[in-house]
Amino acid sequence: MPVPYLDRSRSRAAFDEIARHVAGGESSYARLRAGQELVITEARGATIRDLDGNEYLDYCMGYGVNLFGHAPAFVWEAVEETIARVGWHIAFPHRLSGEAAKLVADLVPGIEQLRFANSGTEATQAAVRLARAATGRELVIKFEGHYHGWADHLAAGIGAASAARPARPDSPGIPVGVMDSLWTVAWNNEEAFDEAIDAAGDRLAVVICEVVPGSGGVLEPRPGYAHRYALGRWFVSLAHGPAEIEQTLDAARGAVEDVAE
Ligand SMILES: Cc1ncc(COP(=O)(O)O)c(C=O)c1O
Repeated sequence: MPVPYLDRSRSRAAFDEIARHVAGGESSYARLRAGQELVITEARGATIRDLDGNEYLDYCMGYGVNLFGHAPAFVWEAVEETIARVGWHIAFPHRLSGEAAKLVADLVPGIEQLRFANSGTEATQAAVRLARAATGRELVIKFEGHYHGWADHLAAGIGAASAARPARPDSPGIPVGVMDSLWTVAWNNEEAFDEAIDAAGDRLAVVICEVVPGSGGVLEPRPGYAHRYALGRWFVSLAHGPAEIEQTLDAARGAVEDVAE
């Protein structure tokens, strides 16, 4: 008798069929790396169901975008109503884009304006380009195990033990020269980060990190190493001298300890 959850024979057969047409069976670079062969038929609320009838509690939630679970009625209805009224992909401004952007800015502290992107890969690419343009510098620091999409300039250091300067490309086809302006640094390691920031000096354009890394497995920042510490140190070092850096670091550490308690 098939063992529930272990019987994935229909999923496997369907995956093989998908893979005849979709290279590797999967279009997402992150999921391709995970080697997952689970073919889903239905997703509702907190649950997904595969082709073999197995049901799973979904902690992934579309990598975070399904804030209200799968297919919530109020989102479904709003999408249906808007498409019926407006259409889709109109390739001109629509007042709804301004309204949606304002909502995001109202909800997220620190955001004044924004642009929308179709994928995380594009969003991180735009963010890095903006940082490089604004600073006139090229060097980017990312952390080991953090995933920022599959574009050449950030597709490195996604696996464990991948800290390197310059970074090592994660795939054939990425020109080695692209890595000259990318360093990968160990995560959860204050000394490694401090050392990299000092070595980068005035070549550094930006530090990019996942708030709580998820795509390479959950790698929570350990207490005392909040991303706030890491990023705070760098932002302050750009703007101020050493005395202000130490003061702000002390304040940041205090805030992090308060949260941890
Ligand atoms: C933190 C983060 N950045 C970027 C990406 C890339 O997004 P996309 O697959 O939409 O290109 C992902 C995808 O998992 C992600 O988790």
